[in-house]
Amino acid sequence: MQLAQRFRDFAHREARGNSPLYHQRALDIAEDPAVLALITELPTDKQQPNLVLAAARVHGEVSLSYPEFRDHLIEHWAAIAATALARRTQTNEAGRAATLLPVLARLPGPLSLIEVGASAGLCLYPDRYSYRYDGSALDPSDGRSPVVLPCATTGPVPIPTRLPRVVHRAGIDLNPLDPSDADDREWLAALVWPGQDERAARLRAACAIAAAEPPHLVPGDLNERVAELVHAAPPDSTVVVFHSAVLNYLPAQARAEFRTTVRDLPCHWVSQEGPGVLPGLVDRLPARGPDTARLVLAIDEVPLAFAGPHGQSLDWFGQA
Ligand SMILES: C[S@@+](CC[C@H](N)C(=O)[O-])C[C@H]1O[C@@H](n2cnc3c(N)ncnc32)[C@H](O)[C@@H]1O
Repeated sequence: MQLAQRFRDFAHREARGNSPLYHQRALDIAEDPAVLALITELPTDKQQPNLVLAAARVHGEVSLSYPEFRDHLIEHWAAIAATALARRTQTNEAGRAATLLPVLARLPGPLSLIEVGASAGLCLYPDRYSYRYDGSALDPSDGRSPVVLPCATTGPVPIPTRLPRVVHRAGIDLNPLDPSDADDREWLAALVWPGQDERAARLRAACAIAAAEPPHLVPGDLNERVAELVHAAPPDSTVVVFHSAVLNYLPAQARAEFRTTVRDLPCHWVSQEGPGVLPGLVDRLPARGPDTARLVLAIDEVPLAFAGPHGQSLDWFGQA
């Protein structure tokens, strides 16, 4: 059964090593015809294991045994299905600012940041977070941030010595989330996998920073709205359009359209996507190690580094 394989793939390729609970839970679901039959009632794009498991978390405790979990899921399926239908996978990881920062900090400031596929916009605050590159500290001028991002590096990473000045933060999402809204925060928290307590704490702290100075987030498709946001950025700033873990949601033709659009705009383009997502970069990557979850960091289509999926590592292979 295709859906069972989808859960097995999720268990082996995504959850293994990251969340023992989700790893086992996805394997258990893959062998459970009654639960698979319920999930099959959802439209195919809503049968994503990550979406279904997060929706189940919103409606119940996670650390149950599998028999308790499946009974709970069956009993509360109407509510869980409604959440899966209403929501989408919008994991917002502030930690990715740690791998974007070495690129952003080298651009002439001040910066106007425009994030496409921004979710709640938590990656739009690279100047408000603290960083620990291999333990060495970089903090905002007013002191250590409540969000501290550790990042282990290899290669000639241009580790920043100061944070950029950001004068404008804007973004686009099909469904922008509001970091000051309790329901949206609950959903973002449900998307952090069980056992990843540091990420959950970071999410709460980053939401508080974003809620205190909300970014200008507009709803819509990134291809349709990116030009208008670039043109609305303040003059005399360096405009940077960036994204991480977003273009994999787009069909190949829409990705190609985005490439053409963004290259014609007066901005830099910083991408942080899976290795096969931007075809123009593939041939210029070094041979990959066993960690297939890494993202490729690039500026203006020049690949620079592999980034850990949550910003926890940066392996630089580009020019220093
Ligand atoms: C996995 S989240 C990543 C969020 C954020 N970039 C980060 O790194 O934390 C992907 C986001 O892209 C958005 N998205 C997907 N396709 C989109 C499109 N065509 N236009 C705008 N946003 C899109 C989703 O709604 C979701 O919020």
